[in-house]
Amino acid sequence: MTENPHVSGSYWLQTAPGPERPALTEDLEVDVAVIGAGVAGLSTAWELARAGRRVALLEADRVAAGVTGHTTAKLTALHTLIYDKLRRTRGPEGARLYARSQSEAIERAADITDELGVDCDWERRSAYTYVCDPGHVEELRAEARAAREAGLEASFVTETGLPFPVAGAVRVTGQAQFHPRKYLLALADDLVAHGGRIHEQSTVIGLEEGEPCRVTTDMGARVTARDVVVATHYPVFDRALLFTRLSPRRELVVAGTIAANQDPEGMYITPDEGTRSVRTAPYSADQRLLVVTGEHFTPGTGDTRSRFQHLADWAAEHFPDVTLTHAWATQDNDPTDTVPLVGLLHPRAHHAYVAAGFGGWGLSGGMMAGRLLTALITGEQCAWSELYDPRRLRSTVREAPSFLKHQAEVARHFVGDRLRPGESVESVERGEGAVVRAGGERFAVYRDEAGHLHALSPRCTHLGCLVAFNAAERAWECPCHGSRFDTDGKVVHGPATRPLEQREPWHKL
Ligand code: FES
Repeated sequence: MTENPHVSGSYWLQTAPGPERPALTEDLEVDVAVIGAGVAGLSTAWELARAGRRVALLEADRVAAGVTGHTTAKLTALHTLIYDKLRRTRGPEGARLYARSQSEAIERAADITDELGVDCDWERRSAYTYVCDPGHVEELRAEARAAREAGLEASFVTETGLPFPVAGAVRVTGQAQFHPRKYLLALADDLVAHGGRIHEQSTVIGLEEGEPCRVTTDMGARVTARDVVVATHYPVFDRALLFTRLSPRRELVVAGTIAANQDPEGMYITPDEGTRSVRTAPYSADQRLLVVTGEHFTPGTGDTRSRFQHLADWAAEHFPDVTLTHAWATQDNDPTDTVPLVGLLHPRAHHAYVAAGFGGWGLSGGMMAGRLLTALITGEQCAWSELYDPRRLRSTVREAPSFLKHQAEVARHFVGDRLRPGESVESVERGEGAVVRAGGERFAVYRDEAGHLHALSPRCTHLGCLVAFNAAERAWECPCHGSRFDTDGKVVHGPATRPLEQREPWHKL
């Protein structure tokens, strides 16, 4: 067994820290305000600036430091197993539009990389979805057929570059991998060079829709804009209750060096074993960085340390010479009907837009969203606007099973977690946290390394489910819709926007 990996933080963030950008301290008037500077927000702002719009990009934290800074950074239109399902639920044309929209986004990123001369470790690679269980081969053959019919260079193969045999794989050629922060920081610089404004540490707390729209930041600055785009991963203004159509999924990443001659020369994913995804990145003259992702789970459930252990063991078993250097985690939302939500924010919206629910494929999806939202705002036609429209009607056939499953899980947590007895405060070790009962009340208690207790309300400020502690990452997580809070209760991931309440008096503990 390998050593339990230390959660070091994202390799992408550590190797491309980027400049700090000023918070918004004055009122502004622009054509478009974009909220959220991940790949979707930044791509949208950049495309709009290139289309001649005055743009302000507002970010609560740092540019490309949230989910985008923790991704595995594969740029592919092969999204594990999707085309056979899309063919059945959206018809052959829906599958074709999905493939074309994602492929065009990748080529757009390639063009931008060339045009701006971005040194972002861009590499063309084939993408593979593989299985080791022969029982799943027919599913892969069907996916290869559907992906080919959708217009991708897809084939079913049994040979890959992986150092172990597979029962079969779908291969799509001509895809790409890169360093996401090097690319996006260059995009941010170019946005500013073209007159765009970027403000970090500027949390948007209010959105008034109208003509014009107005957004307000936590520091009281107001931005007046004809159009507003909400690209905050989980929409912070969720006027169509999109959260009911998004299931949160957390995923772990371990990375380490391997000899360059052990590079499997491709981007791989399998739906088996709780998902395993493999890619490499340039590291040194004779080494590559192996990046392995997997062990997906609902935030706030189970033991994250043992999941990191499983993933590290898997990496060491299949790449015995790997020296693990990094471990981090990422989070995404799976839309209940598989297709991201990109377009007008709700049925009565005219100037408020959203981009959400990329299901783990946020790089190509976010770039696609940038192009699509720019077309919608500038009045251009876009062949796939209907496919991604968040206002699409729920089809009982295509969406009901996963929608109902998600709602049942939420109800189970909302009720069931309250019936649990709760731990005693004495059992909470240093560096650990737990929901404890004391004096007839529940507390979310974290004991820091110095032995001091930090007590919070365990009620998530989104809709009141009880949070649980993730010991590996030292964060409180809500299993219902994936909100995350630090050990002092501050929101690190929505949909919650308010911190967990501080709980006093301490003597009850
Ligand atoms: Fe919705 Fe916590 S995230 S209740």
